[in-house]
Amino acid sequence: MAIENEVLKTIKNHRSIRDFTDKKLTEEEVNTLVNAAQRTSNSMSEQQYSIISVTDPKQLARLGEITLHHLPDKAGHFFLFIADQHRNAKIIQNHKPDANLEALHSADKFLASIHDVDLAVQSTLLAAESMGLGGTIMGSIYNNPKEIIKIFNLPELTFPVLGLAIGHPASMPDLKPRINNELIHFENAYQEPNMQVVENFDKTLNEYYKNRKGSNRDTNFFKNIWADISKGNYRKDLLPIIKAQGFLNN
Ligand SMILES: Cc1cc2nc3c(=O)[nH]c(=O)nc-3n(C[C@H](O)[C@H](O)[C@H](O)COP(=O)(O)O)c2cc1C
Repeated sequence: MAIENEVLKTIKNHRSIRDFTDKKLTEEEVNTLVNAAQRTSNSMSEQQYSIISVTDPKQLARLGEITLHHLPDKAGHFFLFIADQHRNAKIIQNHKPDANLEALHSADKFLASIHDVDLAVQSTLLAAESMGLGGTIMGSIYNNPKEIIKIFNLPELTFPVLGLAIGHPASMPDLKPRINNELIHFENAYQEPNMQVVENFDKTLNEYYKNRKGSNRDTNFFKNIWADISKGNYRKDLLPIIKAQGFLNN
């Protein structure tokens, strides 16, 4: 029998919400969410991320154009999560103006700040869901990271990692099925996927997409993956932009 409690109920009830009422989040709700983000485990206890609350209608409208989605505009609140080694560079320089900061430009530190962002984003979303709110994580800010860096004055050693649109759900989509446990959970060594199990999941997901409320389509797990991958690397400029921000230099 599966264990049940309130936290697990909230986790198991997760679905991305893209349809919001007009109600904005209160200051108390926003602060509660930021506090939840801050309690998250973080690499080396160095909190290598920052959060920008985007409230300027012009910035929100532009984010909508960049992400090709109404979400930034229509959500009750929009957070932009930033990988941030800049703050720690400043803190070190405050004590040691001549310090060698080479390590802050490393792949190791870039990954650390990505981990810190991703976990903080998930804590924020889960906290929101526990408050009866809902939301969607947005990686589509990568459609134009250069402009986002400019709009939000992101200095060297920062990079926009994810957006998070939170609001009051106007409707509740069906739960999206996940692949079978055995395809993602192994014991002691990696296991190649059992294609029969994958094909059965293709059918499950196809049923979900054909029958779900809202936008129906005839797709499945394979088709979803291929629709993405067959486009090729359409965000080729990401690596040079990450490097131009001072990351991945050693
Ligand atoms: C890193 C990441 C980036 C995402 N980016 C987007 C996005 O740009 N736009 C969007 O509508 N959903 C985005 N999502 C939400 C996923 O599409 C969603 O979580 C997935 O389809 C599973 O559906 P569910 O969350 O409803 O269960 C993103 C999720 C993650 C984790």
